[in-house]
Amino acid sequence: MNSHSKPNSSQLNNQENNLDTSANNTVKITVMRYRPDEDDRPWPETFEIEWSYDMSILDALGVIKDNLRPELAYRWSCRMEVCGSCGMVVNGEPKLACSTFVRDYVIDFLPSLNRGDSYS
Ligand code: FES
Repeated sequence: MNSHSKPNSSQLNNQENNLDTSANNTVKITVMRYRPDEDDRPWPETFEIEWSYDMSILDALGVIKDNLRPELAYRWSCRMEVCGSCGMVVNGEPKLACSTFVRDYVIDFLPSLNRGDSYS
C-alpha cells in the first residue's frame, strides 16, 4: 500500500481547466495542495506533463510525484478499482484515479469527432 501521512492533501482541482491540453502531447493538471503545518487553506498548483493514451489519473500523479513534486501526497493501493483508496474529485466528480484516464479529459483528442463537423 502506498498511502501517505497527509490524507486529502491533494485532490485534482474541481475547477474548470484542471486538465488542459496543449498542442503537443502534454497536459496541464491542477492539483489542490494542502500542507496543514504551512497552509491556511488548500491551494491549486498546476503541472504540465507528457501523457499517453493509457495513462490513468493515478499514473499522472505518479509522474508529478516522481519528477516534479516528491512531497506530493495522495492515497492508492490496489491500482485495479477494488480498494477505493484512490478516490478523488476530478473535474468536480468523484472518481477512482486508477480507473480514470487522462484521455477522457483531453479536448480535441479526436478533433474530427469534437468539432461537430458534418461530412455529408
Ligand atoms: S487504487 Fe484501489 S481502487 Fe484505485
